[in-house]
Amino acid sequence: MGIGTIIRHRLGRLEIPAAELYRACFIDLDHLGRRIAALGEPKRILEIGCGDGALAQRLTTVLPAADYLGIDPAPSAGRLYRGDPDRAEFRSQDTATLVTQDPDPFDLVLIVDVLHHIPAPRRPAVVRDAAALTAVDGQLLVKEWARDRPVIGRLAYWADRYVTGDRDVDFMTAAQLRALLADSLPEFALTDHSPIPPWRENVLVTARRTGTSRRTPDSPAANSQPVA
Ligand SMILES: C[S@@+](CC[C@H](N)C(=O)[O-])C[C@H]1O[C@@H](n2cnc3c(N)ncnc32)[C@H](O)[C@@H]1O
Repeated sequence: MGIGTIIRHRLGRLEIPAAELYRACFIDLDHLGRRIAALGEPKRILEIGCGDGALAQRLTTVLPAADYLGIDPAPSAGRLYRGDPDRAEFRSQDTATLVTQDPDPFDLVLIVDVLHHIPAPRRPAVVRDAAALTAVDGQLLVKEWARDRPVIGRLAYWADRYVTGDRDVDFMTAAQLRALLADSLPEFALTDHSPIPPWRENVLVTARRTGTSRRTPDSPAANSQPVA
């Protein structure tokens, strides 16, 4: 557990403001919520790697007609969510498990600031699971911090390595992220969006299917591997 996590857990009622302040150093989550809302009106949202529920809080506000499911391998999924409990569900599980449960597909699937926490060889499987969970006419959204600039690009690495305490954190360049998505999602068209403030490192890419079929747990193309 990183020093940041230890301190946060001792803050009591100040934990949420402190977590919000820390996150705001890197990304304007309110802005991201509004940008997501401008992409469409999903009825069913899945967030992969939902963490404490900071983005869930925004999404259930800006998309009042949507139901939200957040999954995360961590046992604390959704721990700090304070929005409408009837519209948000949190599960401590991985994508491979959710795929085998074969839920109704989601109109919007989000992977926000998660891929750099997953070892590179396992990222394609998680991205393909995300695609399998996306409705035929749905949208998959990936937001990552790109490490292109020498000093600014390393800020998030230092924070995740020494404050969050993830020893294996490994950021991609914007080109590497795009290549990962293009290789993992050949049946999707990718769209690059303008960065999320306050840093141009906050890269946002959306993917929409070009065809009309979707992988299911029974399909021969299933390629998920369990994630920790
Ligand atoms: C920085 S948090 C992002 C939380 C949330 N998406 C947000 O933007 O507020 C990264 C999360 O990714 C999760 N994570 C790590 N490996 C994962 C995996 N293989 N599949 C899904 N989530 C994972 C971590 O447990 C952590 O909660």
